[in-house]
Amino acid sequence: MSIEKITFGKTKETDEVLEYLLKRNGVTLGILNYGATIHKCLVETSKGVRDVIGGYDTVKEYEDNDGYQGALIGRVGNRICRGKFSIDGVDYTLAINNGENSLHGGLKGFDKYIWTVTENSEADCDKLIMTITSPHMDQGYPGKLKVTVTYTLNDDKSFSIGYEAESDRKTVLNLTNHSYFNLTGFEELNVLDHKLKLYCSNFTPVDHTLIPTGEIRPVKGTAFDFTEEKTVGRDIEAKDLQLEYAGGYDHNYVIDRTQEVSYRNTTLFKTAALTSPDDVLSLEVATDQPGVQVYCGNFLHDDIVFKGSKPQRRRSAICLETQHYPDTPNHPQFPSAYLDKGERFKTTTLFKFTSR
Ligand code: GAL
Repeated sequence: MSIEKITFGKTKETDEVLEYLLKRNGVTLGILNYGATIHKCLVETSKGVRDVIGGYDTVKEYEDNDGYQGALIGRVGNRICRGKFSIDGVDYTLAINNGENSLHGGLKGFDKYIWTVTENSEADCDKLIMTITSPHMDQGYPGKLKVTVTYTLNDDKSFSIGYEAESDRKTVLNLTNHSYFNLTGFEELNVLDHKLKLYCSNFTPVDHTLIPTGEIRPVKGTAFDFTEEKTVGRDIEAKDLQLEYAGGYDHNYVIDRTQEVSYRNTTLFKTAALTSPDDVLSLEVATDQPGVQVYCGNFLHDDIVFKGSKPQRRRSAICLETQHYPDTPNHPQFPSAYLDKGERFKTTTLFKFTSR
């Protein structure tokens, strides 16, 4: 019912990093003004409190590592092919930071910004309202962009992330959050025994640099089929070129958008349901976005240490990044990620826990 503010540390540029703690009905969210990052997410269960989102103990580790732990991603989440796209005949070239492609906003994405924070507690929720202004041509993207991200912790063990933005000229935008979930509280350092259901009958296959080919492919009868709940690891080693390219699941799924969820005057669609191996904790994700990147930490290095001295491990957690499809600006047939001058961008994703 309250928001507590604690000192977390300082960036290399000596900006003060604070952690805001939102607490309600058995859930505590710790959010940093650095990268609008979810640093922790404590959930009470019958087997004790579990911190189900990965992260680090210091600002330096957030600055030095490239895993985007818990971070807010922008301007454009995921990859843009060779960092090139055009708007109305004008070509743009972005900062390249992932092989030959641009990933998660470029060299200094929104995950590295210091956000301005306003706190607001209401009867049935606590809110953190975070803002930044990204200048025209930031990382190569056109338009001066004002972004507001609102984290809302509700009474029913759920939290939402509301994204709003406005640009002073036509641009492209695809905002998401990059939390790594492990519902055992990272007691088990692999996510393969978690059970996953996706409300997605199709996905977007990629080339060997993880850029979508443009195809929308049905999952039925393939290792990518999570329309019926199965463990993350059941088919992950199946012989499938798509799994080979990505080293496991790291693909955008097309959300079916058939099962509505009403949330505070918006309509969202069921997207994913994740359950811990011991069935004690489940997480349901709903969004109004068209896609979700399902990434099971194939690139996490074994040599990095997580919060609380826990070793990070390859495939120790799963990201469910609600988003537009990767490389949308280069695929006119994908749902549009253009934002017109003066248009109000607004999207919401809801994460709801059930603990037993
Ligand atoms: C994910 C992406 C992965 C990897 C990761 C960051 O969103 O799908 O391929 O780049 O971010 O390490």
